[in-house]
Amino acid sequence: MASITIRQLDEALKKKLRLRAARNGRSMEDEVRTLLREAADEIGGEIPQKAARPGKAASAPRRAPIPAAEGDRRVLLIVGGGIAAYKSLDLVRRLKERDIFVRCILTKAAQEFITPLSAGTITGERVFTDLFDPAHEFDVGHIRLARECDLIVVAPATADLMAKLAGGRADDLATAALLATSATVLLAPAMNPHMWSNKATQRNFAQLAADGFEFVGPNEGEMAEANERGVGRMAEPLEIAAVAERLLAPQTLALAGKHVLVTSGPTHEPIDPVRYIANRSSGKQGNAIALAAAQAGAHVTLISGPVNLLDPAGASVIKVETAREMLKAVERALPADVAIFAAAVADWRVANAGAQKIKKKAGQATPELPLVENPDILATIAKRKSQRPKLVIGFAAETENVVANAKAKLASKGCDWILANDVSPKTGIMGGDRNTITLVTATASENWPTQSKEGVARMLVERIAKEMARND
Ligand SMILES: Cc1cc2nc3c(=O)[nH]c(=O)nc-3n(C[C@H](O)[C@H](O)[C@H](O)COP(=O)(O)O)c2cc1C
Repeated sequence: MASITIRQLDEALKKKLRLRAARNGRSMEDEVRTLLREAADEIGGEIPQKAARPGKAASAPRRAPIPAAEGDRRVLLIVGGGIAAYKSLDLVRRLKERDIFVRCILTKAAQEFITPLSAGTITGERVFTDLFDPAHEFDVGHIRLARECDLIVVAPATADLMAKLAGGRADDLATAALLATSATVLLAPAMNPHMWSNKATQRNFAQLAADGFEFVGPNEGEMAEANERGVGRMAEPLEIAAVAERLLAPQTLALAGKHVLVTSGPTHEPIDPVRYIANRSSGKQGNAIALAAAQAGAHVTLISGPVNLLDPAGASVIKVETAREMLKAVERALPADVAIFAAAVADWRVANAGAQKIKKKAGQATPELPLVENPDILATIAKRKSQRPKLVIGFAAETENVVANAKAKLASKGCDWILANDVSPKTGIMGGDRNTITLVTATASENWPTQSKEGVARMLVERIAKEMARND
């Protein structure tokens, strides 16, 4: 049988073939095979599939792939080397059910858990694994993989991939594509609970969230390891597909032209120059709201008490310590269209904070710390006669009778909405990554599902955008 190599083709034909292969996301070899197969189908013959080279996983699917059509929503799915990698195959199905075109990159470690053959069979597309594969680099290349998609989903996102991403590493195809993309990136972390709660992973998570990466999960539940339970399970494929679909929806920048004011974090009320009264607020929820509002196109002013978080991308951040400083900063930042008071402001401060460190002296009585009330920032702004934001939203952190107390707070403070959450220690909300909210308005209360603080932030921003559109 005659044999032909692409190198022997004339330049014009080679160019046409290269363009066609690139458009279809295939190697030139694969494109030739597809053309021959189609021609054989027309004349009723059969072209045998190329067998996988021993020791090298087959990267071509058995069926002729259907390339992404104009207007298709395109996801690049990066599968990391975690035990949850098997679920990524179901995720592909869930995305395809929604008519989303999916291409896959498997990391080297991911191939210990699933094969390119199975991913290729389910996507119906060539699977990419190697940064230095000359055929792939020539035909598609990591830059095109990164660019020719509307969303990148990393599932499972391993601790290792998160660390590399947070550090800007690009030493394999997955991380190089992630660094080269301008598309939104959705991470679905999955790992052992100890790996997830490890300080380094939490540092990387905070960095990635501040850099604007989207997250779904991890969820709480049983681990693959026997008798292990905790936060670290990958979100279910249906959950990831739903978030992916929402992220693929055309961005309307629903809050463009609006000024959104957000307060966040605790306040520190001095006892003397070295001691203070504080609370357990981490600022994660307020920061996530500021980020989500900025991503929706708002001009965001974030007034933050002392927190250990990176500033959210796109927000103007003003740092304060005390409740009185926070109120002043809020008043200076007006006018605003929306004000969201997520900060856990101390109700009281020490009446006469010492100008010098209060010394412990032998035989002297324990010092008394009389307290005075701090200004109520939420009520002050909600009851303003001038420059009252159109929508004033407060948080009610309660440990009992959550909804009843939130309703009472709504009335007494004069605000429009209250986001009530149960912060009793059993919930782990204070300082944790998830939140369970009840939205209380003058006429209704609405239970939101337990979700990440980023999820709460996005839901809130969507609700605000609807409300603003209704009133405009
Ligand atoms: C059986 C097994 C299961 C693993 N599961 C996970 C996991 O669920 N999450 C994780 O972050 N790492 C897990 N690892 C470790 C990763 O495979 C390892 O960090 C690897 O370098 C990740 O590579 P990648 O991030 O390039 O995919 C597992 C390792 C083994 C051997």
